Amino acid sequence: MSQTIAVIDFGSQYTQVIARRIRECQVYSKIYHYKTSAEQLRADGVIGIILSGGPSSVFSPKAPIPDRGLFELGVPVLGICYGIQLMGHLLGGKVSKSTHREYGHGTLTIQKPGRLFNKLPKKLRVWNSHGDKLIELPPGFAAIGTTDNSPFAVIEDRKRDFYGIQFHPEVFHSERGVDVIRNFLVNVCGARQDWTTKDFIEHAVADIRKTVGKKSRVLLGLSGGVDSSVAAALLHKAIGKQLTCVFVDNGLLRAGEREQVESLYARNFKIDLRVVDASKLFLRRLKGVTDPEKKRKIIGITFVEVFEKSLKSIGHADYLAQGTLYPDVIESVAIGDNPAALIKSHHNVGGLPERMKLKLLEPLRELFKDEVRAVGEACGLPREVVWRQPFPGPGLGVRVAGEITKARLDVLKAADTILQEEMMASGWYWKVWQSFCVFLPVKSVGVIGDERNYADVIALRIVESKDAMTADWTRLPYDLLQKISNRITNEVRDVSRVVLDISSKPPATIEWE
Ligand code: XMP
Repeated sequence: MSQTIAVIDFGSQYTQVIARRIRECQVYSKIYHYKTSAEQLRADGVIGIILSGGPSSVFSPKAPIPDRGLFELGVPVLGICYGIQLMGHLLGGKVSKSTHREYGHGTLTIQKPGRLFNKLPKKLRVWNSHGDKLIELPPGFAAIGTTDNSPFAVIEDRKRDFYGIQFHPEVFHSERGVDVIRNFLVNVCGARQDWTTKDFIEHAVADIRKTVGKKSRVLLGLSGGVDSSVAAALLHKAIGKQLTCVFVDNGLLRAGEREQVESLYARNFKIDLRVVDASKLFLRRLKGVTDPEKKRKIIGITFVEVFEKSLKSIGHADYLAQGTLYPDVIESVAIGDNPAALIKSHHNVGGLPERMKLKLLEPLRELFKDEVRAVGEACGLPREVVWRQPFPGPGLGVRVAGEITKARLDVLKAADTILQEEMMASGWYWKVWQSFCVFLPVKSVGVIGDERNYADVIALRIVESKDAMTADWTRLPYDLLQKISNRITNEVRDVSRVVLDISSKPPATIEWE
């Protein structure tokens, strides 16, 4: 039985980040709604409680107030941001509406490290985001750290093992924040650090089985990308033949992509995979269209249409599974008028689940990308799938600038295959964010032997990035660029010229359309 740390959610955008940091420390945690009773927490055997931040003020009539009994369970409690204010408010201290909001970076000075700041530097850059603040300590507490604006930035009651932190140790911008959390888990709660990816998979498999039961059928749209691939592998592990995957060939895939998907999932994993060849329909609808937004819309609408039609032909299903990850989900508990869950619309395949009366199943919705990759590897997916570069939903449709034709796609696919081969062979494929070719709608004069060759132009787009929000072009070695360019112009008959895109994002974007 795992030891459980309870994260009580007061609607913070960072609640899931707290859970993620706890997993990073290899400790099991569970997120609880703030209304959960102390009895429930006791029954679940929690060994420590973290009170999350949240958008409310403790003075608001709609402020989320937890069961006060959680302070009587005899387990350590750590309040973060709204959590520390709640502790002040509920345990006899005083909170004030601050005239001075504190946002962004601040410097924390630790006067008495205690168990929470054990072996950490005395001064740390930390990240704040709060309006109210504690102005009077509750009985039993002492201040152990200060920032310029908060005399009570870190407080502790050693006797009861209650701690409060005004800043956000869970966010990346708080220096050594994860160490503070680890100190709470290990030094204060005495947690064992034995929660691994394997344990996550076991829990997820048990959860999926419990939700789906022995009879229901689950459908999953497989794109071949990391998220849907890992979701497929995990679901297959849990429910085997009750899972059916649908792969739509829209004619905008890279060379050999459909065959790779068939070979991996149908032959290797023995997943019930239905491949729908809709390439002709997509190309027909895209005929003569040059505007990038129009192309994207046509591709999106046609995908939903084809997917819906294929689901009907497969027969009855109960669930639609999606590889939604946590960064795709902006979720918080419903507090006041806050919506309970907002999901980026592109992940909810055009409102399909409601129209087809399918329930949604999202087994990866609590995970971040790197955790999903670890799950994929543990489920036996090959490195090429788990670590593959992102590929846009509209596929090569946004990499053929101008009109999309079969002939242009063929040229692009041939050139792109060469680029991928060289990136793999040199090891650069794994070092960059994305590397791909773009077909340009211009002709350029070349010469082959003694003959004029008026042919196509291919651009190379190779970028580095952390999150696709910003990107810079990769400085590939000249020798490698030369090899790629030579091979493309020699091996792809219709290409007379290769150019290199040296634009950063911003002002350019990664894709050309
Ligand atoms: P841009 O071109 O906006 O791309 O700099 C940022 C990242 O997003 C990918 N991308 C998409 N992914 N559907 C997707 O799933 C799309 O329509 C789409 N458009 C761009 C792009 O490859 C890059 O990684």
